[in-house]
Amino acid sequence: MEWGPGLLARGSRNLVSKPLVLHSYYMYHILSWPQLLFVAEDYDGRIVGYVLAKMSVGGLEEDASDCHGHITSLAVARTHRKLGLATRLMQATHQAMQEVFNADYVSLHVRVTNRVAFHLYTHTLHYEVHDKDVKYYANGEDAYEMRRYFKQDKRRKEDASRSEAVKAA
Ligand SMILES: CC(C)(COP(=O)(O)OP(=O)(O)OC[C@H]1O[C@@H](n2cnc3c(N)ncnc32)[C@H](O)[C@@H]1OP(=O)(O)O)[C@@H](O)C(=O)NCCC(=O)NCCS
Repeated sequence: MEWGPGLLARGSRNLVSKPLVLHSYYMYHILSWPQLLFVAEDYDGRIVGYVLAKMSVGGLEEDASDCHGHITSLAVARTHRKLGLATRLMQATHQAMQEVFNADYVSLHVRVTNRVAFHLYTHTLHYEVHDKDVKYYANGEDAYEMRRYFKQDKRRKEDASRSEAVKAA
């Protein structure tokens, strides 16, 4: 199995050839932040995992100094799970966020019922719960908004206590 930034160009070509990801939302991410897209391929060149992410820089309504990455989508084929692929894909995009964009932190949303992903984010990748978004998903399910700070600053400590409060609520 191959994986990594070296696969980016080939992986992107494979990805855009699939009708599913021709959706404009995905195309927007792929074209805007190709540095943050990573795929894993099997030995036959089939994509078996990917992570799609974007950058968010403070706009008019946000803190202009806020520069952070956001995980848009992460998935690994059932046949290739529990091999560490999601961990490696996430680590790769974290690294690109820091090295290419100097991001302060990375955020994501996860269904409160997705225990496997929650374990990956908290235990393996050291994200913390930042907030809970009620009825975030179309089916009415709540989401945890999670963050991992790349730089040690006071907000990390604030998030740790906030995480406990949200989980207890
Ligand atoms: C969540 C998902 C991306 C994990 O991918 P993966 O490649 O299997 O994850 P990894 O192999 O890197 O495992 C990461 C951790 O999760 C654990 N894990 C993975 N699958 C597990 C399972 N079914 N049961 C229990 N633990 C599991 C691993 O043991 C590992 O824990 P560790 O670091 O303590 O050893 C994958 O299950 C998936 O694609 N799910 C459907 C899509 C999805 O939920 N995406 C996330 C949306 S927010």
